Amino acid sequence: MSSKTILTGIQPSGALHLGNYFGAAKKMVALQDAGDCYLFIANYHALTTVHEADVLRDWTFQLAVDYLALGIDPERTVLYRQSDVPEVQELTWLLSNVINVGFLQTGTSYKDKVAKGIIPSVGLFNYPVLMASDILCYDSDLVPVGRDQAQHLEFTRRMARAFNHRYGEVLRVPEALIDEETALVPGTDGGKMSKSLGNTIPVFLKGKKLKKALGQIVTDSTPLEEPKDPDNCNVMALYKLFASQDEVTELAGRYRAGNFGYGHAKLALQEVMERELGEAWARRDALMAAPEKVEAILQAGAERARVRARAVLDRALKACGIR
Ligand code: ADP
Ligand code: TRP
Repeated sequence: MSSKTILTGIQPSGALHLGNYFGAAKKMVALQDAGDCYLFIANYHALTTVHEADVLRDWTFQLAVDYLALGIDPERTVLYRQSDVPEVQELTWLLSNVINVGFLQTGTSYKDKVAKGIIPSVGLFNYPVLMASDILCYDSDLVPVGRDQAQHLEFTRRMARAFNHRYGEVLRVPEALIDEETALVPGTDGGKMSKSLGNTIPVFLKGKKLKKALGQIVTDSTPLEEPKDPDNCNVMALYKLFASQDEVTELAGRYRAGNFGYGHAKLALQEVMERELGEAWARRDALMAAPEKVEAILQAGAERARVRARAVLDRALKACGIR
């Protein structure tokens, strides 16, 4: 049986946060031996919201460092920048001819972004077509993402089927890999953690800065001595993502017993975060000091990625009469 192709991307539009970590990055690290893995930095997508060249370059580099620090092994995972594979742009055009405007208008991500004040550029509107190309250009089988990307994956499947319906079986129809427990990581305000909402906890904050970020998590005003509800607490919701079942039961007991404040809960959260991320924090410092090494990894990744993308694009060009 041939192995599965697993692929995902994250936009370099700000510091990697716990939502990105649990929704996509951590899963990708864990899946490295489960198939042919591709992981990319979606810098063309970030153009929809990041309009300063130096900032985009810097965040692109930092995201590569983040992935490597978290344990992405460039031997087992093809790590690359989206923009280093121009074949994806060509396939995007082909796909834009099999999807209708009315269909893309139903995109909730597009509507949400416009409602938040992001410029409704043609690029933002076409965002899902480029994303479909990112996925279909590599014959991907599985795409690990958070729940917010489920509709984009449905659009991708629809474009693949529409292309195949018109031209024959050319594109592989992928599936989203959404893990219910981590599908929607809450931010400091209890809503979806998201860069654009200013409610994130970055993965690579430590010490006092991390303490300050955790201080922002919104809690209710139950006095210290009174019992608290562990099932209705933003701190607990994040703690659960890092802690074992026994640790969660133990902390929930302390909530219910009273004489336990949210400050104590935040300290407990910081401890489990340090346990899980401490090594990655140290690796990141080392990588930041070796930018040429990171660049070489990205270029080698792009070379490998292009071989796969070229083959799929050639198939698609031939099928639709361009070749
Ligand atoms: P943001 O919403 O902060 O801009 P991205 O859109 O770049 O983040 O998301 C990159 C990846 O992280 C996607 O797979 C997305 O589904 C996942 N992700 C983002 N926020 C969350 C969250 N709060 N919970 C779970 N997954 C998330
Ligand atoms: N749209 C995704 C996000 O905002 C990022 C992305 C771009 C992506 N291309 C992709 C994710 C392809 C998975 C596969 O999170």
